Amino acid sequence: MTPRAAQQYAAERLRRAGVPSPEHDAAELLAHVLGTDRSRLPLVDEVAADAVERYDALVARRAAREPLQHLTGEAWFRHVRLEVGEGVFTPRPETELLAGWAIDEAGHYLGETPAPGRAPVVVDLCTGSGAIAKAVAQEVPHARVHAVELDEAAYRWAERNLAGTGVDLRLGDAFTSFDDLAGTVDVVVCNPPYIPLEAWESVAPEARDHDPHLALFSGADGLDAIRLLAVRAAVLLRPRGVLGVEHADAQGEAVPAVFSATGRWTDVRDHRDLAGRPRFTTARLAP
Ligand SMILES: C[S@@+](CC[C@H](N)C(=O)[O-])C[C@H]1O[C@@H](n2cnc3c(N)ncnc32)[C@H](O)[C@@H]1O
Repeated sequence: MTPRAAQQYAAERLRRAGVPSPEHDAAELLAHVLGTDRSRLPLVDEVAADAVERYDALVARRAAREPLQHLTGEAWFRHVRLEVGEGVFTPRPETELLAGWAIDEAGHYLGETPAPGRAPVVVDLCTGSGAIAKAVAQEVPHARVHAVELDEAAYRWAERNLAGTGVDLRLGDAFTSFDDLAGTVDVVVCNPPYIPLEAWESVAPEARDHDPHLALFSGADGLDAIRLLAVRAAVLLRPRGVLGVEHADAQGEAVPAVFSATGRWTDVRDHRDLAGRPRFTTARLAP
């Protein structure tokens, strides 16, 4: 079978199943089966029968709405590769913006911290696969990066992904951990659970059935974790340290309001993603 025919058949099957990016996923899965990458598929003349069989099996699982990244076993986040699968939240491209903000902030802090020349201290609360922490460690090599995850299964994925990066990974509750860093952190970054419990029905099957629920839902209005974060980040940060937190697109006013209401934060701002949707809030701890 030619790769083109195999891909067209698979894309049609995925389209009928309601998969949002059928052509892309059909190509990614074929590249995975053939041990190549998507850009090199046009160089392949023929897909052998055993490869067609393996491809078919993966396409069937994708049509049943298993996340693409669970089928390939990997997710790319900025410039880092992460291993992902059952038990851990799949990192999303939109979170790369929040990570980019943390990277810029950490980069700028060198020389501006209370002790000039001190390495910037970054804490990734709710690290999941370790995506944000790993990206910061890679792009700001002089930063001291710490990360925490509550769920044991997710923690084990993070352990694997952060091995050899120098990130200090801990198993525990983000909103009580790191007493040892209190008052010293330059950047707190967090992609917490933020979906309202009642929005269960509207969550895509890939997320609803395969992301851990602890990673998705956070109380009736989705803001429980963010309220705790507004208190805990104020303990961890040094005066004038900064915080960035992702939120749902409907929370572009509610999340800044959580921070403004405490009276502890200045420069509270919301940021949009590339599609123009409200995506994350940043704030600075009042001096
Ligand atoms: C939306 S996921 C984000 C994961 C990762 N930071 C990313 O952006 O891909 C939220 C993560 O927070 C973890 N989590 C939820 N409540 C937590 C808590 N109280 N302390 C630490 N981690 C928590 C979940 O298990 C999940 O891994």
